Amino acid sequence: MSADRQKRDTARRALEFVEDGMRLGLGTGSTAVHFVAAIGERVADGLNVICVPTSEATAAQARSLNIPLTTLEETPELDLTVDGADELDDALNLIKGGGGALLREKIVASASDRMVIIVDASKHSEALGSFALPVEVVPFGAEATYRQLAAVAKAFGCQGDVTLRMKDGAPFMTDGQHLIYDCAFGVIEDAPGLADELNRIPGVVENGLFIGMATLALVGTDGGVKTIEPKR
Ligand code: A5P
Repeated sequence: MSADRQKRDTARRALEFVEDGMRLGLGTGSTAVHFVAAIGERVADGLNVICVPTSEATAAQARSLNIPLTTLEETPELDLTVDGADELDDALNLIKGGGGALLREKIVASASDRMVIIVDASKHSEALGSFALPVEVVPFGAEATYRQLAAVAKAFGCQGDVTLRMKDGAPFMTDGQHLIYDCAFGVIEDAPGLADELNRIPGVVENGLFIGMATLALVGTDGGVKTIEPKR
C-alpha cells in the first residue's frame, strides 16, 4: 500500500474524533491535507465546526473548501487538533516542522484539549532522531544562534550537521518570517532535556520536539490503522 493511501486512511479515521460544534485545530502537511479535505466534505454535508489553521497553506485549503475559520485571538481554546508528524515514538513524543509550520503547530496544539496525530507507518520509530530536528530561529544574529545550536548539539552527542534550510536558492522563510536550521541529531536520548536546552538559546523561537502534547496517534499501516496511546 502506498504511503499516500496510509495517510488518507489515517486522516479519515481521525474524523471519528470530530463532533458537531467542535473548535478544531487543522494541521499542516501532506497527511493533514487529507484530513482538511475530509472535514471539507463533512462541512458541505452540514457539520458545524470552527477551525484554526496552523499555516497559510492550510488556511488556503480550508478557505477553498468553505470550512469556517477563526483565530486563537477570537477562539483561544480548542477542543481538538489533528496534525501530522515527521517522526513519533511509543511515548507519542514527536518531531515536527518538516513543512516549516512547527511554531504555529505548537501554539495551536498547546491551546487544544486533545491532539490526535495522523501518520503513515514510516513515521513511527523506537527512538526519535532519524528525522533531522527543525529549529526555528529569528534572522537577526542567525550566525551567532547557529554557533550556539551547534554547541548544544555537541553537548547532546550529536555527530550530524546543523544546516540552514534553503528553498529555491534562498533561505526558507516560515509563515512567521523566521529561518529554520535542520539539526541531524541522530538518536535523541533525552528529548525533553534537549527541547529545553534549545529553547534557552535567545535566537531560537521554537524547536520541533513536541513532548507530551499528543494524546493519541493513528498510524496507517498495510494492515489497517493502528492506534497508539502514550505510555507515560
Ligand atoms: C509541518 O511543519 C510539519 O510539522 C508536518 O506536520 C509534518 O512535517 C508532517 O508532514 P507530512 O504529513 O507531509 O509528512
